[in-house]
Amino acid sequence: MTELPPFDHEPRPYSGPLADEVLRLRKEFLNPGIFLYYKKPLMLVEGKMQYVWDESGRRYLDALGGIVTISVGHCHPEVVAAAREQNDLLQHATTIYLHPNIAEYAKALAARMPGELKVCYFVNSGSEAIDLALLMARAYTGNYDMIALRNAYHGGNASAMGLTAHHTWKYNVPHSFGVHHAITPDPYRGLWGHDDSNAGRNYAADVKNLIDYATPGRIAGYIAESIQGVGGCVVFPQEYLKHAYEHVRAAGGVCIADEVQAGFGRTGSHYWGFETQGVIPDIVCMAKGIGNGCPLGAVVTTPKIAAALAQRTHFNTFGGNPVVCAQGKAVLEVIDREKLQANSLAMGNRLLAGLERLKEKHNIIGDVRGKGLLLGIELVKDRATKEPARAESAQVLEICRDLGLLVGKGGLYGQTVRFSPPMCISQADADFTLDILDQALGGL
Ligand SMILES: Cc1ncc(COP(=O)(O)O)c(C=O)c1O
Repeated sequence: MTELPPFDHEPRPYSGPLADEVLRLRKEFLNPGIFLYYKKPLMLVEGKMQYVWDESGRRYLDALGGIVTISVGHCHPEVVAAAREQNDLLQHATTIYLHPNIAEYAKALAARMPGELKVCYFVNSGSEAIDLALLMARAYTGNYDMIALRNAYHGGNASAMGLTAHHTWKYNVPHSFGVHHAITPDPYRGLWGHDDSNAGRNYAADVKNLIDYATPGRIAGYIAESIQGVGGCVVFPQEYLKHAYEHVRAAGGVCIADEVQAGFGRTGSHYWGFETQGVIPDIVCMAKGIGNGCPLGAVVTTPKIAAALAQRTHFNTFGGNPVVCAQGKAVLEVIDREKLQANSLAMGNRLLAGLERLKEKHNIIGDVRGKGLLLGIELVKDRATKEPARAESAQVLEICRDLGLLVGKGGLYGQTVRFSPPMCISQADADFTLDILDQALGGL
């Protein structure tokens, strides 16, 4: 059996309730709509950098990064120290008082943004960031209609659910007023493929088409994940966002980038996912990796758009809490000091090249895609029909887990196996991932 790379950390002995008991409690007392990975649920009780441990002390490589949330490593010592220090001093204050953390953190975040993106709002989750961005777009433009993309995931509150476009996440309640979904710019499954140099322009034409046919011709805005995450790591063709943004701005709308998964250096070549498409949005939504596991989200916009939100008072009790701001600031510093963006690029390229090799060996891999450490392989029953290999993908997850590797799944049918480990992984981790995946695909 392939061994995990050596790692110098002894997990604490676990003395809490066992997994079966936790499952029983969860079934009795928790929301029945939440779902579990794996036939035999996995319980995690400790984490250190790119690894997690179950209650028996078994170690796993977390190649999903807590669903793309652990950016710099589980319980990174500097991030833990920053939160601990602030927890000891003052756990809560709101924006009705001054506090240095929120101000200094906003300055540090704004310094990492291009163009006029200099005004920060802090919230508690990605869904909240999306909701606020939607409010901004409508308040600023005076228009109502929004364009989002099919295959998008933006969150679970009413406004984010309206923008999301997978039936699996959409309850049958009113939630999508004014939202229109353009076709997914997916070079694997869509009309224009990887080999079509006009693909970006052609997919973006659908945004213009929607504006002309489905809206009053003036819109509030357009939102897209810079790489579609939950949708299965869909990377848009070159120049797609550039053309889409032109159509949106010509119709009076603002452009919103959802960087909840792609931001903070994860794409490797750039700090922000939208930069890989050569655009600067008007509003950027962040969450997940921004806090390395704490409930922190943010929206960053221009002073002009922010002014529109000053028409009324705006308040968020926990947004910009001193503890999460300390943690968020530490995350930014660790990304820079440990050169994690460069590591994402190097390790991402290593993984990508290895995944391409696996594609040559395993016919079930229909497509290999992604940037940096946001990667996916789409599994298909047949390369010609592209029928999603749903059950096989679930089986790959099971086999990988048995062999010590945690990966994710995405796509409407769960047909895409996803890799988004903490950005601190080593070459040995990348090679372990490929080796285990090869075994899992071979074991189908
Ligand atoms: C791209 C994207 N946007 C928004 C969200 C919503 O974030 P949260 O779950 O923190 O509300 C998610 C969550 O998976 C996401 O992947």
